[in-house]
Amino acid sequence: MTALNIVLSGATGGIGRAMALNFANAGHSLILLGRNTDALASLRNSLVQPERHHILLADLSSGTAIAGLAADVAAIGPVDVLINNAGVAGFGLFSDQQDDVLEHMLQLNLLAPMRLCRAILPMLSVSPHACIINIGSSFGSIGYAGFSAYCASKFGLRGFTEALQRELADQAIAVHYLAPRAVRTAMNSAAVVAMNTELGNSEDEPELVARAVLQLLTQRHSSSRYLGWPEKLFIRLNSLFPNVVANALKKQLPIIKRYAKLQSDVGSA
Ligand SMILES: NC(=O)c1ccc[n+]([C@@H]2O[C@H](COP(=O)([O-])OP(=O)(O)OC[C@H]3O[C@@H](n4cnc5c(N)ncnc54)[C@H](OP(=O)(O)O)[C@@H]3O)[C@@H](O)[C@H]2O)c1
Repeated sequence: MTALNIVLSGATGGIGRAMALNFANAGHSLILLGRNTDALASLRNSLVQPERHHILLADLSSGTAIAGLAADVAAIGPVDVLINNAGVAGFGLFSDQQDDVLEHMLQLNLLAPMRLCRAILPMLSVSPHACIINIGSSFGSIGYAGFSAYCASKFGLRGFTEALQRELADQAIAVHYLAPRAVRTAMNSAAVVAMNTELGNSEDEPELVARAVLQLLTQRHSSSRYLGWPEKLFIRLNSLFPNVVANALKKQLPIIKRYAKLQSDVGSA
């Protein structure tokens, strides 16, 4: 496999770390993005050939920080791949979510990937292996109670990715959207984990997502992939027969509301 230069956001998170380990083992060179110097340095030191990898600090919820980051990335060297993985979740009833929570969610989950794509595109356009991978979610295709703002951000990311796939269809840049279902990382609060268990929703290991992304690195045509069964089926069903899915989810509502209340009680404690 050709060794690629990969920019990875959210590198120190659960899925990010699994991707970093897999990519480094496959011989790729990484620019690891995050907000915590110690966590980034310790991640780099845990990778094969740490001297091949770089770390860059940036709070991606700021447009100004992203503009500065692009210059720092360019100074390091050429880029073949951009992986937009950083993100936040927000479980709770929509009526309880304040403006700052909504703004932060959209800044980080939607605007940051868009800004990073625009900033890094000139570097990608000169690579024969160019690829963008946006990490979405099954909640980017299914509106789910308790996750209104998160769903809005991931539906937006899916729409953006689809449009970009079509806008770059005459260029050698593959644009992928990868949508995991629930994954066992710190992103999911104790209330979400308990709710998923009670509802029988499966959680995947970050390693599974990392391996799916590794496969996409060499796929030269743009694609959208959804991980997990039966979530894949529900996504298809939701696009064709949304009322069927709405009726099934309505039965879960009392359970979801009970855990959303638990979440807001913990948050306000
Ligand atoms: N876990 C799931 O159930 C699940 C399911 C489907 C999709 N996903 C998606 O997978 C991606 C990774 O999630 P994860 O489960 O690995 O979450 P995670 O363990 O919580 O990691 C999130 C990452 O995002 C970074 N981040 C947060 N706020 C940031 C900011 N303002 N600026 C820069 N970086 C920031 C964090 O960096 P710091 O170290 O600086 O905090 C961290 O590295 C997300 O896009 C998420 O939506 C997750």
